[in-house]
This record gives sequence, C-alpha cells and structure tokens, in this order.
Amino acid sequence: MNDDIWGAAREALDRIAADRTRRETIVSIASPDEAAAFRALAAPGAGRAVAEVVGDAERIFAHRVRMDHPRFYGFIPSPASPLSLVGELLASGYNAHAGSWMQSSGPAAIEQGLIAWLAERAGLPESAGGLFVSGGSMANLTGLMLARDRMLPPEERHRGVAYVSTQTHSSVAKGLGVLGFLPEQIRKVAVDAERRLDIAALGEAIAADRAAGRLPFAVVASCGTTNTGSIDDLHAIADLAARERLWLHVDGAYGASVALSGRHRALVDGLGRADSLSWDAHKWLFQTYGCGMVLVRERRHLLESFATSAEYLQDAAAGDETPNFWDYGVELTRPARAMKLWFTLQVMGERAIGDAIDHGFMLAETLEAALGERPHWRIVSPARLGIVTFRYEPPGHDGSELDTLNTAIARRMIDDNVAAPLTTRLDDAVVLRACTISPDATADDIRAMVAELDTRAQAIAAAIRA
Ligand SMILES: Cc1ncc(COP(=O)(O)O)c(C=O)c1O
Repeated sequence: MNDDIWGAAREALDRIAADRTRRETIVSIASPDEAAAFRALAAPGAGRAVAEVVGDAERIFAHRVRMDHPRFYGFIPSPASPLSLVGELLASGYNAHAGSWMQSSGPAAIEQGLIAWLAERAGLPESAGGLFVSGGSMANLTGLMLARDRMLPPEERHRGVAYVSTQTHSSVAKGLGVLGFLPEQIRKVAVDAERRLDIAALGEAIAADRAAGRLPFAVVASCGTTNTGSIDDLHAIADLAARERLWLHVDGAYGASVALSGRHRALVDGLGRADSLSWDAHKWLFQTYGCGMVLVRERRHLLESFATSAEYLQDAAAGDETPNFWDYGVELTRPARAMKLWFTLQVMGERAIGDAIDHGFMLAETLEAALGERPHWRIVSPARLGIVTFRYEPPGHDGSELDTLNTAIARRMIDDNVAAPLTTRLDDAVVLRACTISPDATADDIRAMVAELDTRAQAIAAAIRA
C-alpha cells in the first residue's frame, strides 16, 4: 500500500459531498447484471491502487435508495446531517473502544451526559440512564429484556404475556422472540379510529389472560407508529400498567424526537412515564445509520440484566460515576456512537434541531392540504408527526383496482425519478404514504409532488379504464 491513504480519504469525502449536491436518482436498484459484476468484485485480488477502489465504492453505492434525498418520503427516511458524518468520522477515526470507562473515558462521559440530557427532555427522573445502541430494534430488545428480567421469575417465563397493538413495529415481536417468548405470548391489541392502542381492549385482554392463568408482564406503547405517526395514549397506558403491575416499554424510535421540538413537544407528554424507552437518532435527529438510544427509568436495572464479570476484563473496574457501558447492554466492543449526535447538537444547538423537527410537521400539513384541494384524493390518516397516508379513489373502480392504481402511482413516481412516496396497507387496502421529515425539502417541493402525483394518477386511472 504505497498510495496516499489520507489523500484518498479526502477524495472519498469530496465525492460524497458532490453526490449530496447532485442528488441524482432517488431510487436505484442494481440490475441482475450489475449485481453479478459487484459480486465478482467482492473477493480480494492482489491489491489495487486506493484511488481505484474509492472509484469502485462510488459506483457500488450509486445503487441505493437515497434515504436522505429531500424527495424521498418512503419508510422512515434518514435525512442525515453532514454534521453527523463529521461526528462519525471522528468516532471512527479516533476508534475509541466505548465498552469501558478505562478504554474510552472521554466519549463515555459524553455518552453519560447526553443520555442524562435526553432522559431529562423525555421527562424521566434523575435515576434514569441508558446507552447508545445500533437502532430501534436493539433498543426495543434491550428494554424488553429488562421487562422480562424484572417482571417474570425465570421458571414462570413460559406463562408471561406481552401486549402490543396491531400497529406496533415488527421489531418488538422480533425482540420478544429473541428473548425466548413464543408468538402466542404476544397479544396484538386492536387500535381505535386514530390507530392508537385501544385501552379498553387492552384491559379486557389482560383480564382474560389472568383468568386463563397467564402472567401479563409488559405493555408496549408506540410513540409514533411507522404507518401513520400515531401516538398511543401514553398516560392512560401508564396508569393501566401501574394498576396491573406491568412494565411499560415505549417505542419512541420515531416519535420521541418530538420531545426536542419547540412547538409540538406537548404531543409526546407522558414519555417520561416509561420504564424503558426506545429513541432513534438515525430517524428524526438527522444522524447517519447506527445511532439509537435506549433510556430506562432506573439505570441500575440495566446493570442487573446485563453486567457480567470476566477475569480478562478485571483491569477495567467501574463505578457509578465511571460506568462501563458494556455492563449496560448486549455489546462488549462498541463504537462511540454518542459522539456524532453530540457533535451535531453542539454545532446546531437545541433550538435549530427543534426547528428542523417542526419543519417536518409543516411539510406533512402542506401535503395534506395540497391533496385536499384536488378531486378524488382521500386522506386516510391526516398529518401526524410528519406522516400522511392517502389514496387516489376516482369513481368507477372497485377496491382491488384502486389497490393496483395506487401501487402503480408510487411505482411511476419512482420510475420517473420525481419523488418517492411509497405504499403501505391500512384497513386491508393499499394506500400511499409519505414521511416528510427532510429539513432540505420545502413546501414548494411538496406542492410540486402533489401536482406530479395527480397528473400520473389521472393518466394511470384512464389507462386502467381503457
Ligand atoms: C416505530 C419504530 N420502531 C422500531 C423501529 C426499528 O428501528 P431500527 O430500524 O433502527 O432497528 C422502527 C424502524 O423504522 C420504527 O419505525
């Protein structure tokens, strides 16, 4: 390796910056031939010039969905700030081992401080703690492990039942499966008209399970469902959990960021009643991937579930003020994930982050209003937490034709590289869905998208009728 590695690093950064500026194809999926060519490139050969490999990486990464594109509205986009990239670069460049205090006392102190600040913003008490994890799935798994360990004696685990809603994110059931629970130990409770967990149905399900000799132990509330941005009634669920002595895990992977909003913070009031809370920074806090947090009401609960001892770790003894984060979660070796969020927040400041979150609300409201001005567009779920679902329903088509039509509209928007709302299913029908959290998107972008949607919708409907 006789090349200029640092020169190559700068070259890679230049290419990334140029790519972000050009913002070409929104959705690019490798053709079978391209994928075969990439597979052939995977195994190492005799070694190559670094600049050549940087060029290959650029061609490989060209085949992706630009999740940070201002006109990508599918799934939960990741409109990552370039500041997060700098923070990531620092964490990766200094390569701190963030497992123990000894190996990473600087970044560990930041992680401790940032977790305390986020917990305070969520409304959790001073006893709270937590750690950075790879994302919402790992945060949910971590919170649910505490629920299992604290609420169910090991010999009774087979009788335990956890309650979710039909709109709860799939990672919750996956996490419960990893923790050893069978599908029949997960009760999917119905939702109300706003797609929030139905509290009465929850109470009935708990009573029925107790009567059948089962052990209800946890309820999962959603703060920002992926489908419609709905927020369960956190206070009502917390009251019920307290009465029934259930662990309350709140999945705020998407919506907890609203706790930092200047104008909409009240919507997530009640977050602080959680026993454990998931919160993703790679969703609505503008971080690059691999950055989530799990917060818990009592940080000692994390130690009780996760602390281990091993003779080869004895030189890294910890105290409450000097924690070893490897005792707080699943991972031993872990990157200093907190540093990129810290870097972003330090540069932007709290106010600007809050404004950027509020911008997402405004875009969704703009979308709902613009659709409402055109005929045959039905708002299926109104602007909530930056998410709108909608469906084109011209007369003369049955339900299955409308499903085909709305699927085709999304497809055409992507193929024409105009914008990428995607689809989901609600009440057994295909609906279009847009999650509008990019700070780089404008209200004009949204209105232009609606015009483009309408043109294509009319043309496709006419073709179906013909
Ligand atoms: C509400 C919710 N919870 C959990 C997750 C899982 O998070 P991750 O993909 O970061 O593992 C998601 C992902 O979109 C989500 O929207």
